Amino acid sequence: MIIDNLLNKDNLNKEELVYLLGCEGEEKTKLFTKAAEVKAKYIGRKVYFRGLIEMSNICRKNCLYCGIRSGNTNVHRYNLTDDEVIEAAKFAWENRYGSIAIQTGEVSTKEFVDRIENLLDKINKATNHELGITLSLGEQTEETYRRWFNKGAIRYLLRIEASNRELYAKLHPNDKHHDFDERLECLKALRRVGYQVGTGVMIGLPFQTLEHLADDLLWMQEIDVDMVGMGPYVEHPDTPLYQYRDKLLPLTERFNLALKMTALLRILMKDINIAAPTALQAIDPLGREKAIKVGANIVMPNITPGAYRNDYKLYENKPCTDDAADDCKNCLEARIQLTGDEIGYGEHGNSRHFYRR
Ligand code: 5AD
Ligand code: SF4
Ligand code: FES
Repeated sequence: MIIDNLLNKDNLNKEELVYLLGCEGEEKTKLFTKAAEVKAKYIGRKVYFRGLIEMSNICRKNCLYCGIRSGNTNVHRYNLTDDEVIEAAKFAWENRYGSIAIQTGEVSTKEFVDRIENLLDKINKATNHELGITLSLGEQTEETYRRWFNKGAIRYLLRIEASNRELYAKLHPNDKHHDFDERLECLKALRRVGYQVGTGVMIGLPFQTLEHLADDLLWMQEIDVDMVGMGPYVEHPDTPLYQYRDKLLPLTERFNLALKMTALLRILMKDINIAAPTALQAIDPLGREKAIKVGANIVMPNITPGAYRNDYKLYENKPCTDDAADDCKNCLEARIQLTGDEIGYGEHGNSRHFYRR
């Protein structure tokens, strides 16, 4: 069978990836089995937590797919206090999550940059410098990235969203805040500064083809990322892209493609960190568990204070929006146990790829 030969190759080209993205039935089972084997062999069957703190939904950008885009006036905007962020970080530390991830919309004022710098100090003090801190705060200058790195942030997530320039342009307004080349430059700056660099794409976007997705995989391999978070596109009614909802793949098919993308990425990049994104669970209640079984090794339990969770709605049906932090912990523990993997409590779970480079 073609599939056996493909799955034993060291590298896959675009045509082969397109074929594999389209495979079903027995072939798909083989693809998933291979990805699980690669994960077990190269990074072990361990899942690491990143306690996710959605610190603020204020954003200067206006991405055409996103529910908290600046143009959406139906959003109640919030900004956690430093104390609220520190409390959440302490919860993660006390529960031995190992790491946190701080996420906001994109803001680049001097106040914001200074605030993050100070906040990193405060978090590190409150948690005995034991947490691995990931930032996901959008496009910033290299100097800003360096200042935050010097305060102890070790990883940075900046999804390219779509690695194809033309597709990227269709998903974003055509102005200086949404420049594809700028975003690429930011990824390079993050690498120069010394972060473990994460990126990712959305899967099942309007106008997106299997060729685009194959190119996304090859692009991630080419820029040699350390971490990836990618998940299905889920439409949000208060966004311009909602008008294309009838032209999208069904949600179940977007989900299916996201799993195949995860499995293929694991086969291509054996020792990177791959997140099982929450968006999977917006479609299938067992979404994240299924991703863990085909190569993902990171989950991000939401530890944002409960009162704000409902306001960080990037897409419809976002899970965990009514739960308190504790609920996510117990829920995830049970879920991960079902996959047969172990949780890496108290460990950073850094990208092995980063250290092997
Ligand atoms: N569906 C799925 N993911 C989305 N994101 C933003 N909007 C959506 C959506 N409608 C993702 C983007 C962004 C991350 C924070 O959330 O990839 O980088
Ligand atoms: Fe802002 Fe990110 Fe949403 Fe774009 S995707 S509007 S940058 S929060
Ligand atoms: Fe949040 Fe299950 S992980 S409720």
